[in-house]
Amino acid sequence: MPDHRSSRGLLRLLRPRRSTVRLRLTFLQGALFLASGAALIGITYLLAVAEFPARHTTQGLSGTGTTTGGSAGVSTGKAPHESVQTAQRAADLHQFLTESVIALVITVILSVGLGWLVAGRILRPLRTMTTSTRQIFEDNLHERLAVQGPRDELKELGDTIDGLLARLEAAFEAQRRFVANASHELRTPLTLEQTMLEVALADPAATAETLRSTCEDVLASSRQQERLIDALLTLARSQRGLDHRQVFDLGAVAASVLQAARPHAEHAGLHLRAALTPVQVSGDPRLAERLVANLVDNALRYNVPDGTVDVTVGGSAVLTVTNTGPVTPADQIERLLQPFQRMAAGRSGVQDGLGLGLSIVAAVAKAHDALLDVRPGPHGGLRIMVSFAVSQAAGRHSGRGAHRGNGLVRSERQSR
Ligand SMILES: Nc1ncnc2c1ncn2[C@@H]1O[C@H](COP(=O)(O)OP(=O)(O)O)[C@@H](O)[C@H]1O
Ligand SMILES: [Mg+2]
Repeated sequence: MPDHRSSRGLLRLLRPRRSTVRLRLTFLQGALFLASGAALIGITYLLAVAEFPARHTTQGLSGTGTTTGGSAGVSTGKAPHESVQTAQRAADLHQFLTESVIALVITVILSVGLGWLVAGRILRPLRTMTTSTRQIFEDNLHERLAVQGPRDELKELGDTIDGLLARLEAAFEAQRRFVANASHELRTPLTLEQTMLEVALADPAATAETLRSTCEDVLASSRQQERLIDALLTLARSQRGLDHRQVFDLGAVAASVLQAARPHAEHAGLHLRAALTPVQVSGDPRLAERLVANLVDNALRYNVPDGTVDVTVGGSAVLTVTNTGPVTPADQIERLLQPFQRMAAGRSGVQDGLGLGLSIVAAVAKAHDALLDVRPGPHGGLRIMVSFAVSQAAGRHSGRGAHRGNGLVRSERQSR
């Protein structure tokens, strides 16, 4: 059996390592050179052969002209001369062929050698790019290939890889930031709860009343923690995309959210106005409800006394939430869509939330292939528009918005 193994190893050694582009280019060039050289020799040879009888005839005629009388003695005297000429001609052609073939072999060898060098020169940037790309890992994602030289296909490839690295770096950075923020947000209430319990237990004058109050504080803190974990899970779920879709009425979803929010609006002295049209969209109704709830919650929370909140659902499956409130600079909007990002604390005199609301909105919109448009509201606050795709089944029924339900995916964040 060891014979088997050793013969296999020998075969592996004998087998050409791998057919590289350089090798292929060289062989291709050699083959093309050989083919065109052979064609050239062939054509020249054929032309020479075709020319031979013509010359032969001309020489024959001139020979007749010089002789007088054209007697039989003359014609028998010409025959050996012609055959010598023919033999000479054939020998010339043979020599021409032999020399041409030798010259062709030499030039093919030269061209293969030169081809190998030129192919190596052309492919050098590609090898450099491969080596550099192999050396880029998670911790040095900031490095770039930065291919120099003319704007050719190789530079374009280098720039494309650099673009990919930039996107990967941004994604890794966002991931790191998210993990750091999430662990900080999760640890803060835990530390607070531990401190509250330690202080209560270490107090020698603690009464049932003070212990009860501490327990209530710890409970409130753990509820806050539960909300955070719940929001993180929703974010992760919506970022994963939709496992299955079902057709639901976006107008009805918005109506149920508004019904729950109305007491809060009244309590806060805000005017909550709604114009809802029934429209069928396809997706996850629970995530869509979460999206509407987050937008309405924000619109009520970051508002001004006697302010307004307008919620509309249009026939083309566009949800709009507009609220009055402190002015939000347009250049801050992209940031606010990221997890754990908020405006300066206490801006509108309200308690800060978790900072996950808008990132959940963005993730749910993306999962539904919906277009999210966030811009400062006309009277402060924000105006947020989420354009869903009308469900195809519903589109056939109503004939409305059928152009959006044709499977074209449009999902992007816009902030102006
Ligand atoms: N409708 C809105 N009007 C004004 N500001 C808003 C509105 N929605 C969100 N914001 C601002 O964007 C920030 C991020 O919102 P969000 O992601 O929902 O987090 P959270 O509400 O938990 O703070 C908020 O802290 C707030 O400053
Ligand atoms: Mg919020």
